[in-house]
Order: sequence, then C-alpha cells, then structure tokens
Amino acid sequence: MVGTVGLVPTMGYLHEGHRALVERARAENDHVVVSIFVNPSQFGPKEDFARYPRDLPRDLKLLRRGGVDLVFNPSPVDIYPDGFTTWVTVEGLSDRLEGQRRPGHFRGVATVVLKLFNLVQPTRAYFGQKDGQQVAILKRMAEDLDCPLEVVVCPTVRAPDGLALSSRNVYLTPEQRKGATVLYRALCEAARLHQRGERDAESVRSALREIVESEPAAALDYVSVADTRTLRELDRITGPAMVSLAVRFGSTRLIDNVLLGE
Ligand code: PAJ
Repeated sequence: MVGTVGLVPTMGYLHEGHRALVERARAENDHVVVSIFVNPSQFGPKEDFARYPRDLPRDLKLLRRGGVDLVFNPSPVDIYPDGFTTWVTVEGLSDRLEGQRRPGHFRGVATVVLKLFNLVQPTRAYFGQKDGQQVAILKRMAEDLDCPLEVVVCPTVRAPDGLALSSRNVYLTPEQRKGATVLYRALCEAARLHQRGERDAESVRSALREIVESEPAAALDYVSVADTRTLRELDRITGPAMVSLAVRFGSTRLIDNVLLGE
C-alpha cells in the first residue's frame, strides 16, 4: 500500500470503543486496516473463548460504513499453523494484575499483536486505554523489539452512566448492568482523592475497596495503584499512576482504569 497505514487490532463484536479507534486511525492515516480475530492463545482453558460474542456480518457492515479499507479476518490455523512454537513474553509486566489472574493471557496478546504488526506493517497501531495493562505491555514490546511503528493510545469510551464499553457487557443481567457502574464510581473517587492531594496509595486502594464492597452484585477481584510504565504497586503517588480494578458480576469479570497525574 502506498501512504501511511493505521492498524486497529480487535476481537470483533464491535462497539463505540472500537469505532473511536477506527475514526482516529482514519483521521491520521491514508489507509485503515482492522483485524478481527478472537485469539485463542489469550484465553485460559476455563475462560470464555467458545462463548466470546461474535457477529462478523454486523462488524463488516459497520466497518464498511466507517470507511475502513481492509478487514483482516484470519482463521486460527492462519495465525497458528501446525508446528507453531514461538511466543513473545514481556517479562515482569505480564505477571502482574490481569496476568496474575490469567496466566499466559499476555503471552497470547503480545504474540498475536507482533504477528499482526509483521503481517500488516502499519505506520501506526491503535489501542484503547480501557485495557491499561495491555497498553503498557504492547508499548514495552514495540520499544524492546524495535517495531517500526507508532503505538497510539486512545481514551476509554464509556456509556452515559460511566460503564466502560466492552464486548463482555452483553453477559450482564439487567441487575448486574446497574451494579456495574460501581467501577467508574470508584475510579472517579480515586481521581477526586488524588486531585485533593491524597498521595498515599493504600488510602486510595482502601477507599476503592469500600465503594466496590458496598455494591451487592459486585465481587471485588483486585484494586491497584501502580506506576503507569512498570505496573509496580506504589506506596506514594509521586508521578504518573494507573488506578485499576477488576470486579466480578456472577461469572462476568469487568476491568477498568484511570490515569492519575498525566
Ligand atoms: P478487543 O477487546 O476487541 O479490543 C480491541 C481494542 O479496542 C483494544 O485496543 C481495546 O483496548 C479497545 N477498546 C475496547 N473497549 C474500549 C473502550 N470502551 N474504549 C476505548 N477502547 C476500547 O483488546 C483486544 O481486543 C485484544 O487483546 C487484541 C489487542 C485485539 C489482541 O487479540
């Protein structure tokens, strides 16, 4: 392709969050490529790979309307042919937070994204801040492995009540969907505390825990106040920090985050 190429990797079942990435890519590049691939290697054996929501005809219609030049929709054997045995591990960063609860998840993400970089050879690749740890890991990978492209991070797109849009939100019952606003409410409180001068990370974590625990439908998995680049838990918030949390509603697990001091 002549000119610049923006790549938006996705697992499909597209929503406004994906659309914002596509729009940004279209504004900044001559061509836009969107990949749709539910990547088996980033799902654990007990996770929702088989039941992950899929609707290719709807996605294609949306992307055609959104002015996308090319949709890459490989099958698992295209990406992982017989004998495939090379994996990308971003050490340290991949073991914390989500990685601790989902062993092997980020190895699958980093491997498929590097393959997409190599196959598409984009000028820029677009990712959402919604998956904050994924962003930190992919930025690190691109830097460490000299990927000849720019990683562009786009803000989290939210429903009017604050819930971050996610393909997994369709799993929520109406009751759980109501309770799910607790993630954003907790994160707003973290931002407010920080703005008021709170610098003790544990005080912020415990304020978040209290808010999540007050929501009957929610079961807290973790809260974290970590260095944005290294994802190491902080004692004092002295520079850019990412406040993140994971909360279960029945068998559905939601994640969200906000950045402090950016
Ligand atoms: P998926 O969950 O489909 O998300 C694709 C991209 O959309 C990711 O960069 C994600 O962070 C972004 N995104 C999702 N919800 C968003 C929201 N509410 N606001 C802004 N951006 C949002 O993330 C993946 O797929 C996969 O791990 C992938 C990177 C494609 C590798 O398989």
